[in-house]
Amino acid sequence: MTFQDELAERAKLVNEALEKLLPPADAYPPPIHQAVRYSVFAGGKRLRPILVMAGAEAVGGRIAAVMLAACAIELLHTYSLVHDDLPAMDDDDLRRGQPTCHKVFGEAIAVLAGDAMLTACFGILTQLSQDTGIPPELVVKVTGELAEAAGANGLIGGQVADLTAAGSAAGGTVNGTVNEAILRYIHAHKTGALIKASVRTGAILAGASAEQLAQLTAYAEDLGLAFQIVDDILDVVGDEQVIGKPVGSDQRNQKVTYPALFGLEASRQKAAAAAARALSSLEGLGAEADFLRRLIHFIINRDQ
Ligand code: IPE
Ligand code: IPE
Ligand code: MG
Ligand code: MG
Ligand code: MG
Repeated sequence: MTFQDELAERAKLVNEALEKLLPPADAYPPPIHQAVRYSVFAGGKRLRPILVMAGAEAVGGRIAAVMLAACAIELLHTYSLVHDDLPAMDDDDLRRGQPTCHKVFGEAIAVLAGDAMLTACFGILTQLSQDTGIPPELVVKVTGELAEAAGANGLIGGQVADLTAAGSAAGGTVNGTVNEAILRYIHAHKTGALIKASVRTGAILAGASAEQLAQLTAYAEDLGLAFQIVDDILDVVGDEQVIGKPVGSDQRNQKVTYPALFGLEASRQKAAAAAARALSSLEGLGAEADFLRRLIHFIINRDQ
């Protein structure tokens, strides 16, 4: 089985679990359930749930035990995409190869669908202990970490910095250390925080030791950075049919991105350097972490 096949197999497991978790599309009031299902099942790589599973596996845990937590995080991620695409934010019309949620259901329902997915994430976590037998104190720990990763000190902080910094990289010129510091903040928070929380969630729920957790955390920080640099690159050179979202959105919105500050080639090198650091962070872990090792190559070389 190729690594692509393995990813597809894991994504399928996530999709089957999400299908069972979400209310049917015709439940009352239909627009909200339709909009949630539309956004969740439009596509998506399912990277964050796959990281939850791989984080558990890396410390000897089982995929099945963390599947609910993996689905919860995918709902939180999908909420962030629906809101990110709104006219008040990136104003994008295409997501996961389909018209964006607000284009199909209107802005009010898109805002509410996002709210519903974020709330559902934490609701699902409250069932975790009962459904899986994972000790409640571990569930409380990951719930707190996830709230922190999603909130104003995490993803939301990153999104706010992303919006307020827009315009300051105009012309694509290298603008010194201040802009780079802001760029690093943006990437570590809008994207890195949830990627880190995903790996940690899987590992914590599977009973990782402090040492294992530190290694996986270092891995996830660099993986998250590499992932968002590649996202920035694909916004410039990607194929809309393949990435399933508009090419050139960042330039239109004058976003502070790696290609805008450093150019494409230096951005590729920085992504590769982050990937190499991620790989070396796993040195203390055994063959159980091989999936995470191989995932790095996928992240760096992906075209979607
Ligand atoms: C897109 O994330 C938003 C970013 C943080 C870059 P993904 O590229 O993982 O989007 P999906 O889930 O595959 O659609
Ligand atoms: C979005 O970053 C990050 C979140 C949704 C939290 P981007 O705006 O770069 O993501 P895409 O490119 O629209 O997927
Ligand atoms: Mg954005
Ligand atoms: Mg966007
Ligand atoms: Mg982007």
